[in-house]
Amino acid sequence: MTLSTSMLAMEISAPGGPDVLVPASLPVPVPGHGQIIIHLAYAGVNRPDALQRAGSYAPPASASPLPGLEGAGTVVAMGPGVSRWQIGDKVCALLPGGGYAEYVACNESHALPIPEGLSLREAACLPETCFTVWSNMVMRGRLKAGERFLVHGGSSGIGTTAVQIAAALGARVFATAGSDEKCRAVEALGAEACFNYKSSDFSEEAKKLGGFDLILDMVGGPYLPRNVRALCDDGRLVQIAFLQGPKVELNFAEMMMRRLTLTGSTLRPQSDAAKAAIAHQVETHIWPMIAAGSFRVVIDSEYALTEAPAAHWRMESSGHIGKIVMKIPD
Ligand SMILES: NC(=O)c1ccc[n+]([C@@H]2O[C@H](COP(=O)([O-])OP(=O)(O)OC[C@H]3O[C@@H](n4cnc5c(N)ncnc54)[C@H](OP(=O)(O)O)[C@@H]3O)[C@@H](O)[C@H]2O)c1
Repeated sequence: MTLSTSMLAMEISAPGGPDVLVPASLPVPVPGHGQIIIHLAYAGVNRPDALQRAGSYAPPASASPLPGLEGAGTVVAMGPGVSRWQIGDKVCALLPGGGYAEYVACNESHALPIPEGLSLREAACLPETCFTVWSNMVMRGRLKAGERFLVHGGSSGIGTTAVQIAAALGARVFATAGSDEKCRAVEALGAEACFNYKSSDFSEEAKKLGGFDLILDMVGGPYLPRNVRALCDDGRLVQIAFLQGPKVELNFAEMMMRRLTLTGSTLRPQSDAAKAAIAHQVETHIWPMIAAGSFRVVIDSEYALTEAPAAHWRMESSGHIGKIVMKIPD
């Protein structure tokens, strides 16, 4: 197969609002050792893309400067040392960047087969959220069946994924979201209750339940001391973002007296080997949940690649429920 040498991409012309995303004609990436080139059919949009566009989340030095952390399509080229994939295979993949383009290079061990019964459109929305949720909620947070689990931002891409996977694992699932409509949507995905944080206080709800065993939080700021109060003894707080800021005054005596674990992680700067280990767990544990029908991809809206600014406006409006996806031209 002969690949074209140039491709359409949406690049960040300067740090700023959604309109700094502009079309560009760029060279098609060349695969390095252990890398595949995917001709993308769809790319998922994630909040970290908006942070990168705004200039507050720099890509790792080795990554493409283009935004885009996940996508799905067809393998069209391979570097030396690739063993799992063949030209023509359909895959979805966690990307270090570069997903806002027709072609992207990725480590072969960060690509996964399209789960049984899913379209490329749905599969494109899986990697970033599934890798983040599994590695933080299960590998780091050690969620077990029967435990009380709270996720903030329950209607987000991350939230809709965490709610369903935690429910499939047999946990009692609770969430917060910013409107009654979002709360009902999150409950329909398997949450026992979703609290509208504009009209109720999750730390009061926590008291009635005896506290949460695990909280997955993306809000931070003033939520930090409230999260600590909302944990039961031996509870764990896993931080994956700080939408309301990383700095706060906190009484750490609580952590010591009640044997709490405060931890967190971010996926993108982790080593290729660490991401490959997460990929293996995602395929082993989440792909069967999809095949069994206990986890489905919730898609809010679809845009064309060249409509990336509109996709970012939608995301930053926080009006969406679930994932935003972009169609890449054929
Ligand atoms: N650590 C990692 O490796 C990693 C990986 C991927 C994503 N993330 C983080 O996870 C979060 C969710 O990502 P996503 O792609 O699922 O994004 P998303 O769909 O845009 O979700 C963000 C949600 O947070 C809520 N929100 C927005 N601004 C807020 C604020 N200032 N205070 C409180 N809530 C706010 C909104 O819901 P409401 O209407 O309910 O407020 C929104 O739905 C992002 O912060 C992202 O950076 C971390």
